[in-house]
Amino acid sequence: SSGVRRRPDGEVEVAGVGVTALAAEHGTPAYVLDEADFRARARAYRTAFEAAFAEVGTGVDVYYAGKALLTVAVARWARSEGLCVDTASGGELAVALRAGVPGAAIGLHGNNKSDAEITAALDAGVGRIIVDSLVEVERVADLAAERGVVAPVMVRVTTGVHAGGHEYISTAHEDQKFGLSVAAGPDGTSPATAALEAVVARPSLRLLGIHSHIGSQILEPSGFEAAARVVLRLRADLAARTGVLVDEVDLGGGYGIAYLPGEQALEPAPVAREIAASVASVCAELGTPLPRISVEPGRAVVGPAGLTLYTVGTVKPVTVSDDDGTFTRLYVSVDGGMSDNIRPALYGADYHAEVVGRASAAEPVLARVVGKHCESGDIVVHRVMLPGDVRAGDLLAVAATGAYGRSMASNYNGLTRPPVVAAVDGTSRVLVRRETLDDLLGLDLG
Ligand code: LLP
Repeated sequence: SSGVRRRPDGEVEVAGVGVTALAAEHGTPAYVLDEADFRARARAYRTAFEAAFAEVGTGVDVYYAGKALLTVAVARWARSEGLCVDTASGGELAVALRAGVPGAAIGLHGNNKSDAEITAALDAGVGRIIVDSLVEVERVADLAAERGVVAPVMVRVTTGVHAGGHEYISTAHEDQKFGLSVAAGPDGTSPATAALEAVVARPSLRLLGIHSHIGSQILEPSGFEAAARVVLRLRADLAARTGVLVDEVDLGGGYGIAYLPGEQALEPAPVAREIAASVASVCAELGTPLPRISVEPGRAVVGPAGLTLYTVGTVKPVTVSDDDGTFTRLYVSVDGGMSDNIRPALYGADYHAEVVGRASAAEPVLARVVGKHCESGDIVVHRVMLPGDVRAGDLLAVAATGAYGRSMASNYNGLTRPPVVAAVDGTSRVLVRRETLDDLLGLDLG
């Protein structure tokens, strides 16, 4: 995060707090969040999108995608920086509400929401429920009608545009679970159109808009523009056929970040300007007024603001022979692993690690940082140069773990999930405490 500094004595500070002190006070492994950095990124996204869309003449709401990491404090930070909160389940909704986020500033997602989740959302007066199937249109309509309320809904559509990393694939046929396809099916009708018309037909639903999310860790803006074009056309077609011109278009999240030194993140201001210009030109072509826009960044707000602190337990040189010849790789085991960061095992994701808390003049050696779980895929950092004198007791920091680390953590091998600690202005505070064996055993009724 931008609040991380290495002092001349080798100690690393997050927001003015030394990692040695953090580890002593909170133990390891621990997720450390730089509050000021989170806030700055939230603000940067909001101001970039507000400025870009004001320029073309419409408003925008930035929803923080809570799936990346949601705690009560994090939801409050997002809200106090002017963001709304996007939730993906009743659990995330409960955290946002506990934080005092007003229902009107919350969205509820999910491709298979339970009746209890829909009811909780209606009771909280959420600003939007994003529906994901025809079955769900009827389910939300029935539950809203029973309660005598009108539910504001968006219909999640699939535009045929998928993006993520450097991939960019455009297909007419969708083979994944999310959204309703804009393209016509075998019977000649479009599932997206059918769902939009079903929403319009139900008096207990108010059709707020159309939603599209094309992927995650996107480093190139053209996918957002391509998807916007499809959604805006769909909006114009619906207006022509039914007279209903929806007020809002949500373009989802997916803004990519840098995980390794030297990688380039997607910068919010230029991306926002490109998307805004493209939305404006498509609407002008179609002769429809501009909708209000919303976006849902998660990773880009919280990812770079977090790091994970580990303690090294064992160090073991392993002789490896491959196409490049025979070499030594130093396996450095830390006190966590795939239970606190599943992304390397699940996606082959790359991270960067450094020995922190001391300086070292030792020659760097090729290392692999691994966890303490009972499988060989339990890798924290596939490939990194670490000082050759790395040893048991060293503190290791892995950068950019704020998103999809704690939120995807597990208790695999009976490990207790690490705390989330916030550092701000030279002090630290526990946001979510470390799990204990009592927490684990308390769930087991014997
Ligand atoms: N909105 C919707 C509807 C989404 O499905 C997602 C992510 C987001 C927003 C936020 O995307 P972001 O800005 O954070 O990229 N666990 C994976 C990422 C899964 C993302 C799923 N949906 C990972 O660790 O990379």
